[in-house]
Formats: sequence, C-alpha cells, structure tokens
Amino acid sequence: MYQIYPRSYADLDGDGIGDLPGITARLDHLVELGADAVWLSPFYPSPQADAGYDVADYRDVDPLFGQLADADALIGEAHSRGLRVIVDLVPNHTSSAHPWFGAALAAAPGSAERQRYIFRDGRGTSGEEPPNDWQSVFGGPAWTRTKDVDGQPGQWYLHLFDPGQPDLNWDRPEVRAEFLDILRFWLDRGVDGFRVDVAHGLIKQADFADWSYPLEPMFGEGTEGPRPPMWDQDGVHDIYRDWRQVVDSYPGERILVAEAWVQPAERLAAYVRPDEMHQAFNFEYLEAPWTAPAQYAVITRSLEATAAVGAPTTWVLSNHDVIRHATRLALPVGQTRPNGIGADDPQPDAVLGLRRARAATLLMLALPGSAYLFQGEELGLPEHTTMPDEARQDPTWERSGHVHKGRDGCRVPIPWESDAPSYGFGPTDRSWLPQPSLYAEYALDLQRGVAGSTYELYRTALRLRRELALGRGTVYWLTSPDDVIHFQNGNLSVLTNFGPTSFPLPEGATVLQSSEPLTPDNHVPTDVTVWFHP
Ligand code: NOJ
Repeated sequence: MYQIYPRSYADLDGDGIGDLPGITARLDHLVELGADAVWLSPFYPSPQADAGYDVADYRDVDPLFGQLADADALIGEAHSRGLRVIVDLVPNHTSSAHPWFGAALAAAPGSAERQRYIFRDGRGTSGEEPPNDWQSVFGGPAWTRTKDVDGQPGQWYLHLFDPGQPDLNWDRPEVRAEFLDILRFWLDRGVDGFRVDVAHGLIKQADFADWSYPLEPMFGEGTEGPRPPMWDQDGVHDIYRDWRQVVDSYPGERILVAEAWVQPAERLAAYVRPDEMHQAFNFEYLEAPWTAPAQYAVITRSLEATAAVGAPTTWVLSNHDVIRHATRLALPVGQTRPNGIGADDPQPDAVLGLRRARAATLLMLALPGSAYLFQGEELGLPEHTTMPDEARQDPTWERSGHVHKGRDGCRVPIPWESDAPSYGFGPTDRSWLPQPSLYAEYALDLQRGVAGSTYELYRTALRLRRELALGRGTVYWLTSPDDVIHFQNGNLSVLTNFGPTSFPLPEGATVLQSSEPLTPDNHVPTDVTVWFHP
C-alpha cells in the first residue's frame, strides 16, 4: 500500500502544490514500483490549517487539488492499471470552516447545532478558564473560547488538534448518519476503502476528567499508566461495526484501515475484529528501536495480537507524520523520536540512516501482512532536516511555541528528475515547502535501472514479495545470536544483522537479494538484511 500525500507527489499545474491530475499522470510509477494500492491523504475543500486534515466539505475536491471529476478520473485510471484506491476519512473533527461549525457558533448554547460539536461552559467565576486541562496534540490548550452573537465571551469548544479542527460529538445520531452517508458517497464513486484518521479519538470519556499527562498520541506515547480520557474509549468500536456493514454491502473488496495510536498490540487488535475494520497501522513497529531484541519482540507481538482476531498484521516505517526512516534510524538508538529536526539540531548521519533504512525495508517487506510505504521512501529519501523556520507550515511549530519543529521535513515534494525545475515535481520551480538541494541526488531518474539503487531494491523486493506470496505467509523463527534476527517465510530465509561484526550465511545459501553487498566470503555485514534460499 503506497501512501500519496497529494500536496507533494506531482504538481501538474505548476502552482507549487501537488494535484490530482499530477497523481494520475504519475500512476505508472506505482505500477513499475510494484504497489498494489494507493492511499490518498485528504484532498477535500479545506482552509488547510492542518494540510487538509481540516475538512470543510467531505464530498468535494479542493480547487488546490482539482475537481471532483479529477478524483473520478484518478480512481478510474488507477483501477485500469490494477491499482486499488483508498481515501482518507477524517471523522474526529471537521474544519472550523465546515457549515456545521458556522451554524454552531451562530446558535445558542445547548442548541442542536452546538451539540454536533463539544461545547462547554468554562471554569472560573465567569467561565474564563477552559472546561478541563486537556492539551492539544499540536501544543497549547485543547479548548478555544468562542464569542456569543452579541460579541460577549461565550462557551469553549474542544479541538484535540488545531483550533481550526473542532471535535465532533459522536454521541449525536446526526453525526453518525452523516458519516455513513459520506462513506456511501465515496464508495459509490468506486473507492476501495478508507484510511480512518484518528480512529481512536472519536469518543471521549463521559466525565471529561482532567488529564495531567502529556497528550501525544502521534509522538511516541508510552504504554504505562491509565488510559487517557480522550483516546481509545470502548465506545469507538460501535461506530466501526456500523461502518463495516456499509462497506460490506458494496460489491468487491472494500476496506477500512484504522489510524489508531493505540498500545499495546492487543488493544489495537480490537479495531480489527471480524466485524470492525480490516487493518490498523502498526505504529508500535514504527517506533521500535533498531535492535535485534526489540525488532524480534515487536514482530512477534504484532503477529500474535492480530492472529488472535484473525486479521492481517500491518507494517509501516514512514508516513507524513513522522521523521522519514532513512533519517530516523540514524538517531541514537533508544532515543524518543523527536517531532521534527531543524538546522540547529544535531544532524543525523545520512549514510548510516540510509543503510539501516534499506535493511529495515527489506526486513519489513519479508513479513506477512500488509506493508505501507510513504511516497519517496522508495528513493531512500531523507527528511529535510535543515528547513528554514520561516518555511514551516505544520501548526505544531507555532502551537508548541517553537519547541517542536513539526512534520514538514517529511512532507517536502519528492524529486523525480535531478536536473529539472523543482526536481520534476512540477513544471516550475515552485514548491510549497522548499526542497533541499541534496534531493537532486535521490531523484528517480538517477535510480531507475541502476543496480543497487534504493529504487531497484524496492522494486525487486516487491516483485519477490508478490512471487513468493510473502504477504500471505507465516513467520517461523530460526535460532540466531542475540544481535541477529533470522526467520523463514515459506521457503525464503531472512536474516538481519544488527551486531557490530559480520555474520556468516549458512553454507550453500543462495542469495536472492541483500540490502547491501555481502562480504566476499558471504558474511552479512552490520545493518544489512539478506533474503536467501537455504
Ligand atoms: C492524523 C494525521 O495523519 C495527521 O496528519 C493529522 O494532523 C491528524 N490526524 C489530525 O487530523
């Protein structure tokens, strides 16, 4: 499954922001790469307070990205190439520019319009304090005070993310009905399913109790302690049971994928019980340190947890919310993942990062289940770690008081041609986030057909993954030293060496692919994964 971030994939009209016709024009890339399906991040009408995760109209396309007809064309062209298409659904919150929110502000406290969202009176003598102490994921309070129609300070509304993203009240039948209808709208247009944004956030604990811990569902939240009152409440599961019925009523295979930052794996597995969603992103895997024991443990736990509910496991190393893994894996092992890297931070070793990223990818693509790739990782693309602060657009940067750099560094438009304006992203030099000059070295045209390039590594891995049916296989662990992991999937053997010294391949092994060359005497060097037939 290949994630396209529409802003940054391909810009056909040259305004510096990627668009749907750009994606359609570059669909053949996905076929050549060997992807089965595409997930499109939001392209709906939006003020873009959070790069489109603030939706003002769930049934249309933002003019930035094209028109509804362009979405239809994209879906049709993808299908004609055998690619499935899933779209992003954002049900936890709307944009503050959504007509419902405008109506809520114009209506009186307690009105039906207000009850579609989460409005509360403030605390303190004149309601000047927020209703509770919850913090926004992007920093600052999770509540914003409104003004009444007479201009006087009024109630507060909840936004777990940006103030431009008011949380919906999923206790209201009207909200539930609306989203069932939105599902049908896109299913009728032929989409193969939905990636469900913040799937663990829709229901809040009824008492809205204070929560004195940090609110960091996307940035490496720990597994210890009580469950936060805003995440992973049991009530969310009823919603997905209803959705499953709608999805199942359509012909063909249509799926729901949960973006749920939920740990441990057993609680995440609840989202993919037989009558709920089909898959859930495995962020515990993404967060796992680059050591053999940690990788072994997370793979085992993930496989067991999903097997218990009969669902496929998923794997993901990069997306539009985290530091690209070609950079992240060069950070000190065991360090909590930072939310962005800037020019004033220590700069990770790009060579080490890419070496580990290639090994991690080859390990991931040998595992049974679904693997999610993020655009550009097939080029070995690093994070933009020296972006000028003035260029940053992620609300995290401002809302955290410039403490967290935010997610812009992984969202930079990707390079297609090394010697073209915007590295082939579009016909002009324009690019909504600045591209670092080193992206020229990673451009697709320098890697296509080049033996040993990261792009050809991905292509070969995806071809073999399909031919050997690895996605439907089983992991059978083989004994190995503490800093090596070694397993069998079907008749493929997979070995990753995390240790400081090279490790000998078994006698008579036939190598299919390795993330870096082996030594002349067939040893697997440090930070290398090899696929072989024993
Ligand atoms: C998760 C999305 O992946 C992220 O980009 C967004 O900021 C939040 N949800 C809020 O919608």
